[in-house]
Amino acid sequence: MPAIAVIGGQWGDEGKGKVVDLLAEQANVVARFSGGNNAGHTVINQLGEFRMHLIPSGIFYPRCTCLIGNGVVIDPAAFLEEVENLKKHSISVSNLFISDRAHVIMPYHIILDGLEEKSRGKGAIGTTLKGIGPAFVDKIARMGIRICDLLDKENFRKRLSVVLEHKNNILVKLYGAAPLALDEVYQKYCKYAEQLSPFVRETDVLLRDALKRGEKVLLEGAQGTMLDLDFGTYPYVTSAAVGATSLSMGLGIGSMKINGIIAVFKAYTTRVGGGSFPTELLDECGSLIRERAHEYGTTTGRPRRCGWFDGVAARFSSEINGLTSAAITRFDILDNFPTIKVCTAYKVGRTTYHRPPANPALLEKCQPVYEELLGWECPTSDIRSLKKLPPQAQAYVKKLEELIGCPVSLVSVGPAREQTIMVRPIF
Ligand code: GDP
Ligand code: IMO
Ligand code: MG
Repeated sequence: MPAIAVIGGQWGDEGKGKVVDLLAEQANVVARFSGGNNAGHTVINQLGEFRMHLIPSGIFYPRCTCLIGNGVVIDPAAFLEEVENLKKHSISVSNLFISDRAHVIMPYHIILDGLEEKSRGKGAIGTTLKGIGPAFVDKIARMGIRICDLLDKENFRKRLSVVLEHKNNILVKLYGAAPLALDEVYQKYCKYAEQLSPFVRETDVLLRDALKRGEKVLLEGAQGTMLDLDFGTYPYVTSAAVGATSLSMGLGIGSMKINGIIAVFKAYTTRVGGGSFPTELLDECGSLIRERAHEYGTTTGRPRRCGWFDGVAARFSSEINGLTSAAITRFDILDNFPTIKVCTAYKVGRTTYHRPPANPALLEKCQPVYEELLGWECPTSDIRSLKKLPPQAQAYVKKLEELIGCPVSLVSVGPAREQTIMVRPIF
């Protein structure tokens, strides 16, 4: 079973960083395949606490090769800052490589992200303002600049001058903003190119070679299925595929090479930014979860919206991704609740829905149908086996398994690596 993917099952921030850091101990390669530095993956281990945005969470194991695949959009400044931070902590980046085919986030992408959000007014998506959407738009529009373009100075200047003329027209004529100077952008990105060049490789070849050698490969997803461009709560989504469909596209390996897809789910639900969230708790209970779990964004610091576990979204996520197992995180956050609710269906009037409707206006009207379970009201952070969990907690794991529709492979009971109950082997 060499290639296993770890993806987000909900609206992001499920704890993918913690799970990947834990599983990477057994892996030879960890690869990112989608998103960009909109991701914020927290890793807490013996080396400290780290917030990873672009660099795979396997970087803490010296024998692990870390790849940033072609499907990721790369902000050079963000990447280099992350590299510097790791070096400061004496963490080697000698096994870190980025794809020559990955698209680059340019200054106009970041400016346009802000201007587009402002123009959406009340309908703002609540993006991370990192330029992710505009960079993916340019990729599809065949107007992107890739890492390989940056490395070819002469052609980069030619391409940038064409693209920048178009972007300046939009900035000035549509938004009344200041244009960007070609020379300034060119010089800045030529400097980045020099700093990035030692990391650049044909990462798809590296990955396929590792698979041929029978090495263990971990594929680290970003965002969450409900933020997927096709299957998420459109238009309140990110601008790329983030689920199982994006794996082979973002790495250059055949989908038949992927042996397992694990989605990470919090034991409840959170969401940052705009868009429908049927189980959102706007009362004290929601604030209680937020404060107990310190639910504030890893990338933007924004308070996360909190709610009960949404079984409708989770089952949908499980089905469209073809999950082989689920990892449950933040289990300990529910330790003090006398009762815990799970959403088993949505209702609009007399109509019951068992999957999230595509129409956002209808989804907005969906009311959760809850089942109430007894809480366990005792600490779980020091427990390391499923059998040692209190019966109510075991029943909750079983309920989540039933709702998601696939087996649970691990339960995380705290942010640290070792605060984990392994239920079944992953590799
Ligand atoms: P990611 O984007 O999916 O990697 O998730 P984030 O790192 O953005 O957010 C998850 C947060 O939950 C981080 O602060 C983690 O340290 C924390 N975390 C992960 N697993 C657990 C857990 O089982 N219990 C607790 N209390 N915190 C956890
Ligand atoms: P990780 O990998 C949570 C959300 C943003 C916004 C929407 C679009 O840490 O789970 P974008 O900047 O991508 O155009 O924003 O997507 N979003 C995330 N929410 N976790 C993430 O990543 C996210 N990445 C994007 O908040 O609602
Ligand atoms: Mg995150």
